[in-house]
Amino acid sequence: MQTKEQEMILVIDFGGQYNQLIARRVRECGVYCEIISYRASLDKIKAKNPKGIIFTGGPNSAYLEDSPTIDPEIYTWGVPVLGICYGSQLMMHMLGGNVCIAPEREYGKTVVDLDVTSPMFSGLSDKNVCWMSHNDYIETAAPGFEIVAHTPNCPVAAAQDKARGLYCVQFHPEVLHTDNGTKMLSNFVYNVCGCAGTWKMDSFVEETVKALKAKIGSGKVLCALSGGVDSSVCAAMLAKAIGKQLTCVFVDHGLLRKNEREEVCSVFGEGGQFDSNFICVDARERFYGKLKGVSAPEGKRKIIGEEFIRVFEEEAKKIGAVDYLAQGTIYPDVVESGLGGESATIKSHHNVGGLPDFVDFKEIVEPLRDLFKDEVRQAGRELGLPEYLVARQPFPGPGLAIRIIGEVTPEKVAIVQDADAIYREEVDKLPAAERPSQYFAALTNMRSVGVMGDERTYDYAIALRAVTTTDFMTAEVTMLPPATITTAANRIVNEVKHINRVLFDYTTKPPATIEFE
Ligand code: XMP
Repeated sequence: MQTKEQEMILVIDFGGQYNQLIARRVRECGVYCEIISYRASLDKIKAKNPKGIIFTGGPNSAYLEDSPTIDPEIYTWGVPVLGICYGSQLMMHMLGGNVCIAPEREYGKTVVDLDVTSPMFSGLSDKNVCWMSHNDYIETAAPGFEIVAHTPNCPVAAAQDKARGLYCVQFHPEVLHTDNGTKMLSNFVYNVCGCAGTWKMDSFVEETVKALKAKIGSGKVLCALSGGVDSSVCAAMLAKAIGKQLTCVFVDHGLLRKNEREEVCSVFGEGGQFDSNFICVDARERFYGKLKGVSAPEGKRKIIGEEFIRVFEEEAKKIGAVDYLAQGTIYPDVVESGLGGESATIKSHHNVGGLPDFVDFKEIVEPLRDLFKDEVRQAGRELGLPEYLVARQPFPGPGLAIRIIGEVTPEKVAIVQDADAIYREEVDKLPAAERPSQYFAALTNMRSVGVMGDERTYDYAIALRAVTTTDFMTAEVTMLPPATITTAANRIVNEVKHINRVLFDYTTKPPATIEFE
């Protein structure tokens, strides 16, 4: 929850693919950062009281009439502005420079000559590898600007007008392919905008707990706890703030990962870390009953979704009216739902907008609404949650049902749980930086012939998946070290009954999805 005194940088989104990355990098520098669409009025921007503004990239050409633009007063209002890629071209175009199609399109890592006397580039050396991705370029800088970076194909790779506090870079300092990119952003927020660097997770947790106490008073709060990172950290934050006034409901639909229910219960249940009310609903039989004989992916998803709501509804009715419903919505959910930035009205998120109408509550409370995922994990650590909860990878709502091809049975669930636990254990031995974004085992519906001892077997094949992705919309296959895969495969066939074959899925997304159904 952003407090009035919290200094902030505002990212103005012109539809660039890296908008969230810019905000994350700024926050890594210790400065709070939000994203807002370029369509926001100047009054709205001013009301945010930013210490600095960053324009993102975008797919348009600044010189075309219908391209996204901004109120020109932004340049004279007195708050420093940094334009990146499209943002830099827009600034130059609006202030009298010349932007046009580049004779040589630049894409990829490029060595850029920097003028290291610029406050943006202070502490760097005069040649720096930067990530370029543009068709248009700034042919001549606007009056009043001095050029502070160039490449053989790009005469204005960066420019500045120190007196007006206006800076622009053609390349992308926010992506890791740009060496020292975070240093450049840090230079902007500290050297140019004069930020003090007050964004720290320990103070965020402390202030949010205080704000929640003040807001909720003696009210009652209901929280649906899935055991995932976001809902666990949300519940922990509320538990710390209001203790027994919070009731968490956790539904075991029988499609969880191995030991997941025990892990959640040991933290939130009796004898755990928190003294809030915790209800664990054992709905395994109910779900297995409904799923019996159903093998179509969409059919399974629909049944699980509906049954989940029914179970939660029954529990909510028992609890009665509450004042607040807690949700673990996080900042990317807000941005991706089109409520924050511009780029991603692509995907509507289940956490934002769609409220359950069966819970009798007055207001929604979302303590993580301002945080990125890595910040949520950090907040969880601050709150004392165990690493196995805060470091969890994403897990789909329908759970293992979409990692079992065809009909779901309790036996198949047990097989995939065991194989998945072994596989994750082996992958988790790798250094954190080498681990994939998501990795799990899925049970194929295929059985094949094998031999064990002197006996012929006819058993299931398990598939292992490992993908690297930033947005989960596209994904690359992670090339795990061969020893990791072979150890996992050996252990799985030896330790898990009814598996005699292990396959590795080498498909990217697209054309495959990350999950199997
Ligand atoms: P796919 O399979 O669509 O998965 O490539 C992309 C990401 O979304 C997760 N996923 C889901 N999450 N409910 C969820 O909460 C679902 O029904 C669901 N389906 C997929 C998946 O784990 C991956 O991270």
